[in-house]
Amino acid sequence: MLRCRVCGGAVRECLDFGRQPVSSAFVDPAHTGAELFFRLAVGFCTSCTMVQQLEEVPRDEMFRFDYPYRSSGSTVMRKHFQQTARQLLDTELTGPDPFAVEIGSNDGILLQDIAEAGVRHLGVDPSGEAAEVARAKGIRVRVEFFEESTARAIRAEHGPADVIFSANTISHIAYIDSIFRGVDALLAPNGVFVFEDRYLGDIIEHTYFDQIYDEHFYLFSIHSVQAMAAQFGFALVGAERLPVHGGAVRYTVARAGARRPAPEVAELLARERELGLGLPETYERFAANIRRTRDDLLALLRRLRAEGHRIVGYGATQKSATVANYCGIGPDLVSAVYDSTREKQGRLTPGVHIPVLPPEEFGAPYPAYALLFAWNHAEEIMAKERQFRESGGRWILYVPDVHIV
Ligand code: SAH
Ligand code: TMP
Ligand code: ZN
Repeated sequence: MLRCRVCGGAVRECLDFGRQPVSSAFVDPAHTGAELFFRLAVGFCTSCTMVQQLEEVPRDEMFRFDYPYRSSGSTVMRKHFQQTARQLLDTELTGPDPFAVEIGSNDGILLQDIAEAGVRHLGVDPSGEAAEVARAKGIRVRVEFFEESTARAIRAEHGPADVIFSANTISHIAYIDSIFRGVDALLAPNGVFVFEDRYLGDIIEHTYFDQIYDEHFYLFSIHSVQAMAAQFGFALVGAERLPVHGGAVRYTVARAGARRPAPEVAELLARERELGLGLPETYERFAANIRRTRDDLLALLRRLRAEGHRIVGYGATQKSATVANYCGIGPDLVSAVYDSTREKQGRLTPGVHIPVLPPEEFGAPYPAYALLFAWNHAEEIMAKERQFRESGGRWILYVPDVHIV
């Protein structure tokens, strides 16, 4: 029987996407052939309800020194983290010499404002090239995986942290017990561990099935995070819904008994109970919706291609690895995908090998249709590429269902 990585309870399998590549492993066209595949399958714990993957991809295969994702590619996300930094500075980092640690600091999108405010800080991220970008902004980074031993070393060198922050990273870490032991070792007695991640409730409600890929090992809900915090001697004292990435939640965790939970925690928990996130039927419905989206999307792409239209992709997201590989969308249907990340350009998407090109080439000339893989950045991208739509081009979206705009 499969055991829950958080509580040891029995895990029931509910989704199977089959063989999938490592979502960040964009392929050098000169060196194809050596890709790592794994089975992407998901289950939920019948005890603590945590939704989790059944096969763990080794962390060094995903978060390599040359990991290509750069957080600061989105101005909307930059603004979001600017506000987050401001909030932390105003509420938690107010003592005489506060210290903030970020797990998964990437290119410094959040820490840059903490650094500019002159607050002691440290980013921890194994992606060395992203860390170089952060360092160039004056941010201190340790190029390492955060785990218990890293936390102890940081504590010995810098003293306790008033805030340990993390965005879109804690859910990526299968060895969650080591993370919480690390937080326990590093956090000041009244400090807070604040992390935000995509929300399971939104993923199921809107059929965001592409949020499931190797890196997203856990899909958090408020209930499962509360149980997880309790499991490791902490308590969930804050929960805030966020509009980013299709719907996320910011969790505030403190040592058990140290802080009184905000009323929003109970309110959001009550609302969440109606979603049935611990029930098998919920996942059966989700699986049926996913199959329908796959069938609809494939039918649409095939029809448009048969009519002679050129279709491209927009945003070589890691999410799109699941869409393309699960649905079987290769260069025959989507001839290229445009993406602003220099590290992805000139490469092929994982598994299905669609060439990634710079957005400057999107309009030379415009295709008839563009499949918006980066749907979570729709507003920003559609504004930027207004001319595509004005010259007759159409966007294809596949969430919450397949439609053309
Ligand atoms: N916080 C940024 C980056 C998210 S991408 C944002 O929200 O946009 C996830 C990042 O976590 C990557 O840069 C990856 O290298 C890093 N990461 C993965 N596992 C980690 C670990 N155990 N400790 C620290 N960073 C980790
Ligand atoms: P994400 O959904 O995981 O944040 O990835 C978004 C991808 O889309 C990333 O590879 C960068 C790319 N992108 C663009 O190409 N243009 C844009 O305007 C934005 C916001 C993102
Ligand atoms: Zn469990």
